[in-house]
Amino acid sequence: MKVCVIGTGYVGLVTGVCLAEIGHRVICVDKDNKKISLLNSGKIPIYEPGLKELISKNRSSESMIFNSDSGSGIRQSDIIFVCVDTPPNPSGHPNLTAIDEVAKLIGSSINSYKIIVNKSTVPIGTAKRIEKIIKDNQTIDNNYDFDIVSNPEFLKEGEAVKDVFFPERLVIGSDSRKAIDIMKKLYEPIINQDFDYAESNSNKKEKIPILITDSTSSELIKYASNAYLATKISFINEIANLCERIGANILDVTYGMGLDSRIGPKFMKAGIGWGGSCFPKDVRALRYTSEEYGAPAGILNAVIQVNNQQKFKVIQKAMDMLGIIDDKIVGVLGLSFKPDTDDTRESPPIAIINKFLELGAEVRVYDPVVKKYPPYMDSGATIVDDPYEAIDGANLLVLVTEWDEFLNLDYKKVKNLMKFSNIIDGRNFLNKEKLQDIGFKYVGIGI
Ligand code: UGA
Repeated sequence: MKVCVIGTGYVGLVTGVCLAEIGHRVICVDKDNKKISLLNSGKIPIYEPGLKELISKNRSSESMIFNSDSGSGIRQSDIIFVCVDTPPNPSGHPNLTAIDEVAKLIGSSINSYKIIVNKSTVPIGTAKRIEKIIKDNQTIDNNYDFDIVSNPEFLKEGEAVKDVFFPERLVIGSDSRKAIDIMKKLYEPIINQDFDYAESNSNKKEKIPILITDSTSSELIKYASNAYLATKISFINEIANLCERIGANILDVTYGMGLDSRIGPKFMKAGIGWGGSCFPKDVRALRYTSEEYGAPAGILNAVIQVNNQQKFKVIQKAMDMLGIIDDKIVGVLGLSFKPDTDDTRESPPIAIINKFLELGAEVRVYDPVVKKYPPYMDSGATIVDDPYEAIDGANLLVLVTEWDEFLNLDYKKVKNLMKFSNIIDGRNFLNKEKLQDIGFKYVGIGI
């Protein structure tokens, strides 16, 4: 099928290349000329395992092309995926400017029946909003039929390619039988797990469940899923904080809870709280929608509040260890909001680093992938190229992102380099007993 993907951000790039890989002809468009030139020169603006190789393969076979002429991409395609940014307004409500612009462009460019697929996470009711804008921008000369489909993505950064090829479910929300049938055809190789990439891959599944529903329910499935996962983490962080008071161990508590199949072991890792480009934005947006429609959002309010406080647990622990923070050297390991990504949007480590600086510490940060100053990070921190440089002479080492690389550091060397052997493990990631044997004072979260 001929597919146009509008927006070459995270979701757009991964969706586009995966559709090309399963046999479709994909035009990825973006109004940002610079980004398109970069992509056409073979460079990928984001770090995501496996993505670069897949894009290079599909560009060589010409099943995927990049273009800055969105109108032409729309005209040449039967299915148009909308993968543009919906950044939050200060109120928490997503900003729909980019979506509205795309809808206008589709209305003025449409030249045959098209299916418009919403992949971006959008507020409840956006499918209907897009439909209206497209209609308002059509003229009698291009009054072609079209259908809107809500098809939310559930990809995780760092595992995005895998999540698209081997998803736990596909959700398709539309009122049009015709559009639903075409979407099933589009995804047939994924539904049946019948495509080359899957053949030798250990993640290959038997068959992928597909849920057909209306567009409003589909939009809510996306928000409610992310909000539920964030709730799980805030809940477990609250229990971890209780563990510290009563002398229990959160690792055993979560293991014991997770053995109950109704609860399950996933998304139960206590730590410094959730961040990233999705959970914070989506939980706030769902709270906003609930309030807008007069439905109480008591749980969501608490989930956000617990998360806002959780990052600063590390600061309290540092104060307990060091007394005052002023003039102390703090070595920070990690900056991305989770491992295997260079994404620092709403990354809890940034808030922690800023707080240390505010309290007068000298902060040195090492991350295996993030080398540039992220927005909102106080420029007083120094980003260094070597983990040992971050901790040289430090009074305290704080681990805030659980990159595998940090498991394999030479901790005897680390101890010799540090002024005092203090470690706060904000992710309960390192081997506590081993570090204590070396002579570290080790503090985790709820252990
Ligand atoms: C999340 C969802 O997991 C995806 O299903 C969804 O498609 C995506 O948002 C999206 O809406 O686009 P992502 O933001 O990539 O994916 O990251 P996660 O792996 O879910 O982690 C989110 C945050 O929760 C991170 O800060 C992570 O450190 C934290 N986390 C996760 C915990 O603190 N504990 C856990 O047990 C799991």
